[in-house]
Amino acid sequence: MNSSPRSIVVLTGAGISAESGIETFRAVDGLWANHDVNDVATPEGFERNPQLVYQFYNQRRQQLLAEDIRPNAAHTALAKFEHDFPGEFLLVTQNIDNLHERAGSQNLLHMHGELLKMRCLNSRMVFETRENFDFDTECQCCRSPGNLRPHVVWFGEMPFFMNQINMALEACDLFIAIGTSGNVYPASGFYQTAKIRKARTVELNLDQTGSSFDTHVYGPATEVVPEFFGDLLDQ
Ligand code: APR
Repeated sequence: MNSSPRSIVVLTGAGISAESGIETFRAVDGLWANHDVNDVATPEGFERNPQLVYQFYNQRRQQLLAEDIRPNAAHTALAKFEHDFPGEFLLVTQNIDNLHERAGSQNLLHMHGELLKMRCLNSRMVFETRENFDFDTECQCCRSPGNLRPHVVWFGEMPFFMNQINMALEACDLFIAIGTSGNVYPASGFYQTAKIRKARTVELNLDQTGSSFDTHVYGPATEVVPEFFGDLLDQ
C-alpha cells in the first residue's frame, strides 16, 4: 500500500459467507445450479409462481437461522477493523444474510436487501421477519393476504442505497472487494468508479475473477481477510 488510506469502501459477496456454511450462487454446486434464476429471482418469476418464490426464500431464511450458521473470522475481522480504523469506512454487501451485523459491523448497507425482512407491495413498508411467509400471510399494514414479498432485490430491479454508495465510492481512496465474482451489475462496476477517482483497488477472493483490480489476494476469506485488514491497521 502506498500511504495510509483515509476513506475505505468494502464490497462483499457470497464468498465471505461461504465458510459459514451458506452456499454461493455461481459455484458448480451453488444456488443457481439448482434453481432457475428466472423463476426465483425476477419480478416476472414472482408473478408467474409466487408460491415457488416464497418457498425459496423461506428455505434460505430457515437455513440462515440454523444454530450452526454463524459469522466467521472474515466477518469478525471487518467489524474489528471498522471499530479500530480512525477514518471513514463503509461496508456494502450484496449478501442478504445477517452475518455482518451479527459480527458487529455498523456502517453497513445491504444493497440487495435482507432475508429477514419482507415488504408490503402496496405501501412499500418494510417489516422484520424470522418466520416463513407466503401468499396467505396477512400484511401488518393493510391487513390483507397476498401483499407481502421478500425484501430482496431481484434481477431487473434497482439495488438499494445507490446514491449513498456512489458518493462513498467517489470519495474513497481504497476500495476492496471480497468474495464476489463480479458478475452482477452495478456492484461489478464499483471498482471502476473508485478507480476513476484514483482510489487503490484490491480484490480478496478464493479464485481469479477476471476483473482488473490493482492488487489481487487469493485465498479463503477466513484467512486472507483477517490478515489483510490486520496489516492495513498497522500501516
Ligand atoms: N473465500 C473467498 N472467496 C470465496 C470463497 C471463500 N471461502 N468461496 C467462494 N468465493 C468466491 C468465489 O470465487 C466467487 O468469486 O466468492 C465468489 C462468489 O460469487 P457468486 O456466487 O457469483 O456470488 P456474488 O458475487 O455475491 O453474487 C452477486 O448475484 O445472484 C446474485 O443477488 C445475488 O448478490 C448476489 C449477486
